[in-house]
Amino acid sequence: MKHFRIGIIGPGRVGLSLGSALKACGYPLYGVMGRMEASSSEAATRLGCAIAHSYREILERSDLVLLCVPDKNLPQIACSLASSGAVKEEQIFLHVSGSLSSEVLRPLKDAGGRVGSLHPLRAFAAPLSAPDMAGTYFSFEGDTNIRPAVEKLTSDLKGFLFDLPADGKALYHAGACMASNYLVTLFAVARDIFQRLGIPADEASKAILSLVRGTVANLALGAPEKALTGPVARGDEETISAHLDALRSRAPEYLQTYLTLGKATLDLLASANGDMGAVAALLTQSEDQRRTYLEARKNHS
Ligand SMILES: NC(=O)c1ccc[n+]([C@@H]2O[C@H](COP(=O)([O-])OP(=O)(O)OC[C@H]3O[C@@H](n4cnc5c(N)ncnc54)[C@H](OP(=O)(O)O)[C@@H]3O)[C@@H](O)[C@H]2O)c1
Repeated sequence: MKHFRIGIIGPGRVGLSLGSALKACGYPLYGVMGRMEASSSEAATRLGCAIAHSYREILERSDLVLLCVPDKNLPQIACSLASSGAVKEEQIFLHVSGSLSSEVLRPLKDAGGRVGSLHPLRAFAAPLSAPDMAGTYFSFEGDTNIRPAVEKLTSDLKGFLFDLPADGKALYHAGACMASNYLVTLFAVARDIFQRLGIPADEASKAILSLVRGTVANLALGAPEKALTGPVARGDEETISAHLDALRSRAPEYLQTYLTLGKATLDLLASANGDMGAVAALLTQSEDQRRTYLEARKNHS
């Protein structure tokens, strides 16, 4: 299968990363188009390709147009491209949004194009170099007749492709956000707690990063519950009780997050472990119920 001539609209973190990776594996990049002339020009220099000055130009010179713009801009760009009158029969349009389906590109399909969403399941805090894109998982949904071309493209990028139903995109993206974005949030929560104990931010960051790296490595061992350590996995209610007291008095804004994630951890363990009743009582009861429960246990022992 011959390599497509590619045009990129949206030279941001994803556009530049995909552009440089596609170029490195031999795809001819026709051109790149940003919102402003200055950003288009900078991107063109970086990618070693031409600047596309208009939608018509990018449509006329590309076989495949990658739309790497913010989600909220996709409907308007799809309409403008379609109404330019330059969409070619069977021209391919792929957007890279995680949560939107290819339905947002309907005007381009109606104009004769083939449409899909190809989401790189990566966190691009900055543009990635071509070698760093290898190993990326991509989700796809869209016209089935472009799937072989998409599969070839992702395998040329040394990536992996999996399919999604169009009506599952928002849910899929919610899952991806929890795994990636909220991991960052939890990192920041832990760092803030460490800092409250006088540990400098830099040292706290390095220490927590080392902890998180070890945990992520354990996740490769198999089922997530195999990677789980700590008091919930051990059914250690004394430790959980001490955590709750410490959070309530010194970091109360994180108490609810601890309880919510503790309950989710319990659910994860429910099928694997035996009696989690005592821990469940601590994590799932109201504040008053928890106090009564702990009091009763103290009197009982
Ligand atoms: N970042 C991630 O981790 C990630 C991961 C997977 C998928 N995605 C998806 O990738 C897409 C882009 O995200 P991003 O993180 O790369 O965003 P970004 O870094 O903000 O880049 C967006 C780019 O689109 C340009 N743009 C905006 N409106 C445009 C228009 N009308 N015509 C041409 N260019 C336009 C922006 O130009 P200006 O800077 O001039 O506005 C900017 O260069 C989104 O759909 C996002 O959901 C992001």
